[in-house]
Amino acid sequence: MPNWLKNAVFYEIYPQSFYDTNGDGIGDLKGVTEKLEYVKGLGCNAIWLNPIYDSPFMDAGYDVRDHKKIAQRYGTDADLRELLDKAHSMDMHILLDLVPGHTSDTHPWFQEAKKAKKSEFSDRYIFTNCVWEAPSEYRLMCGICERDGNYLVNYFSSQPALNYGFYNVTHPQWQLAHDSEGAKATAEALKDVMRHWLDFGVDGFRVDMADSLVKNDDEKIATSAIWKDIRKMMDKDYPNAALVAEWCHPERAIKNGGFHMDFYLDHPRNGYARLFRLLENGENMSFFSKNGKGDVKFFLDEYIPRYEMTKDIGYISIMTNNHDMPRAPFYMDNDTIKLSHAMMFTMPGVPFLYYGDELGMRYQTELVSKEGGFSRTGSRTPMQWDSSENLGFSKASADKLYLPVDSKEDAPTVENQKDDPDSIYTNVTNIIKLRHEIPQLGNESSFEVIYGEKEKYPFAYRRGDYAIFVNPSAKDTSIPFAEKELERVYTIGKASFDGKTARISASSFAIIRTK
Ligand code: NOJ
Repeated sequence: MPNWLKNAVFYEIYPQSFYDTNGDGIGDLKGVTEKLEYVKGLGCNAIWLNPIYDSPFMDAGYDVRDHKKIAQRYGTDADLRELLDKAHSMDMHILLDLVPGHTSDTHPWFQEAKKAKKSEFSDRYIFTNCVWEAPSEYRLMCGICERDGNYLVNYFSSQPALNYGFYNVTHPQWQLAHDSEGAKATAEALKDVMRHWLDFGVDGFRVDMADSLVKNDDEKIATSAIWKDIRKMMDKDYPNAALVAEWCHPERAIKNGGFHMDFYLDHPRNGYARLFRLLENGENMSFFSKNGKGDVKFFLDEYIPRYEMTKDIGYISIMTNNHDMPRAPFYMDNDTIKLSHAMMFTMPGVPFLYYGDELGMRYQTELVSKEGGFSRTGSRTPMQWDSSENLGFSKASADKLYLPVDSKEDAPTVENQKDDPDSIYTNVTNIIKLRHEIPQLGNESSFEVIYGEKEKYPFAYRRGDYAIFVNPSAKDTSIPFAEKELERVYTIGKASFDGKTARISASSFAIIRTK
């Protein structure tokens, strides 16, 4: 396990939209390098960069055309070198995005695989044995290749699935077994890509759709085995490099697959959604909502067994948001966002802050889809730095920007938030700072529930010597709490403790030391 993960706080950067240094309207690697001090100033000591590889950008770069080449629009190998060198000199770490499940249909492997002539790439993707073979349980692209067969896609139509074989072979005429030579060759090709960048000096990967490798693998047994084998490679040759899974199943990702971290994703009605993002019939049913209709117990029943099962071998990663879902202001007001951040950054695991969430950047609803973003486009708009042209993102004319910047008068920016004691920025940087100052608020203590009852407020939990209370509802709350407040560490709103009762006012949060 890389040691640095214990104290890691990540910042996710969607490179297109972060900072444009060459005035072409799109963010670039030099822009990330220039803003490293800013990221460090937030308290984030690690970065996840969304894909920066050569791509036709049908899915914002998750459609890789050349695994070993940096997209021209982001820069060159030398730019990445500079970014890594500077980050490392600042004791920061950088993860690239690894897309193991599919490539672009313009990738040279696929260009060979779709030809009638057999080659070493014929088995790199999943083709049926002839075009008339198109079982409806698979998502297939039919009749568009010279090769007589249809191919399976993993995501959009332009993203053919790589062939790691099938765990349960139901059509032996065209399905390779997961332990066949052809399937193993794909896993080796993936390792070769990983080695390329790890040898270059990157600190690991965020792994896209990590559960999507072997097909007909319901329990993900063969898929986890591939990752476990990759973990062996990492432990042996790259012991300081880290892998975080886009999986949301710590047992499979961390325990069986050997991932160091696994994201707690926003899945329909799961624990994450119940805390932060549950809208039902137009009503907000999240725990983090002023209307007080949420249920923290649901989250705890899901989270605690996962945490207990994996706490000694890996980390669950709670994120403020990511590039795939609406930003928080779509669900919460600013007060509630602050409370949610206060909780997220005082939980065990390795937390992730999505760029712009430190400002409460808004979800833009009126945008036309960009590069396969569709409803996700509104969470991918340019970072809002200051009140200058294009909110400081780029010197290009506004019509040349990758996406328009927030045009509202009151668009939050770093400039207008950083000295405001009540801003989201100030709140989240304060709480991250505390996480670093008091390691028990991070990964140097256990997590125990003090109060987390079905459909009740507040939620209270213990991190070592500290007790933490959060009440996102609009009603004042009180719970029995017999411990003494030895020190007030942090408060949002109002809270009091008299040795018998904890009183947590509406929209409030507190950390107290009790031991
Ligand atoms: C998950 C990524 O986060 C998303 O942006 C992408 O479109 C799909 N995987 C496909 O790679």
